[in-house]
Amino acid sequence: MKKYLFLLILIPVFALGQTLKEVGLKDRMGSDFLIGAAVNLGQVTGQEAGADSLLSLHFSSITSENGLKWGPVHPKEGEYRFEYGDAYVAMGEKMGAFVVGHTLVWHQQTPAWVFQNANGQPLNQGDLIARMEDHISTVVGRYKGKIDGWDVVNEAFEDDGSWRKTPWYNITGTEFVKAAFRKAQETDPEAELYYNDYNVWIPEKRKAILEMAKNLRADGIRIDGIGMQGHYRLGSPSLDQIEQAILDIHEAGFQVHVTELDVDVLPRPRNTEGADLNINYAESPEWNPYVASIPPAVEKQLVDRYVALFQLFQKHSDKISRVTFWGLHDGKSWLNNWPVRGRTNYPLIFDREMKLKSGFLEALEKNKPNCLPVILFSFFSPQK
Ligand code: GLA
Repeated sequence: MKKYLFLLILIPVFALGQTLKEVGLKDRMGSDFLIGAAVNLGQVTGQEAGADSLLSLHFSSITSENGLKWGPVHPKEGEYRFEYGDAYVAMGEKMGAFVVGHTLVWHQQTPAWVFQNANGQPLNQGDLIARMEDHISTVVGRYKGKIDGWDVVNEAFEDDGSWRKTPWYNITGTEFVKAAFRKAQETDPEAELYYNDYNVWIPEKRKAILEMAKNLRADGIRIDGIGMQGHYRLGSPSLDQIEQAILDIHEAGFQVHVTELDVDVLPRPRNTEGADLNINYAESPEWNPYVASIPPAVEKQLVDRYVALFQLFQKHSDKISRVTFWGLHDGKSWLNNWPVRGRTNYPLIFDREMKLKSGFLEALEKNKPNCLPVILFSFFSPQK
């Protein structure tokens, strides 16, 4: 009996050690997968107080939220703006994080000039591909060895699995996808390359994406992973639908990335077109119900949803490489402005005060073996 007495001393000492050291989300997830956040200009340039310490403590990966999209980084022909990108990769290096570049080829946030010649007429296929390749080699080349993975092509499919009829597709057919991956690979052979899209849980859409990805490989073009944007709601999609997507992507031989994770807690008006209408919606308590604060019962639904999602992700941690939140905290989420401008939304796991929402880690930890020190930690330490 006596020989076990030392445990009575060691366990509290270990637990105390844990309480003194702040443990981040990334450490709590252990080696399951990388934990990421999309970051904006204020955060990468140190203008937002507290953002960099929050990022360093909790996140092992970052994604460029807007600053490396075509519009911000290459607004005019021959004009590149790298202020964001340079600060972004410097922050990633300081954090020792896995740095993701988002995104090289997309139909949104891409200026109209990209698709036009000097006379304002649509470019032909060869000229558009050449312009795209030039963009990719310039941006990927600048951050070669500093950006670890690129969302090469974003959102090329409709939900029914048909190709989205974007200017990229209308001018080049499916060639732009092949050329984009080829050029990214050629420019930085070490960087991982992904295709990224939303609603990957819809079977028809997923089938089309996986077919495209397998065809790339059949043509000898590298593609490492599929990013499933996790723009979810409280009740949909179902865990089964998400799980099937994880299984299918893995089965097809690609890394699974859960990108752009957030959970919208606000009601959604059906007809959201028109800026004026949106302003009215935002002013109406019906569509902007939690201006002062989120009711505890709704926050609990949100935390329960996150717990269920992360339990699913942990179950499949052998297939999932990274889980990235779309934003650092509620105050900076795009969902404060979409699909209605000017609302107060609560879709992330960190609130407006940059505090982790309570109950999330405790619920996850309960299901883990050897959780005593962390449970003690949860009791004793104020959450950050
Ligand atoms: C898409 C894009 C992201 C971002 C979000 C919403 O999912 O991939 O870059 O624009 O929409 O903010």
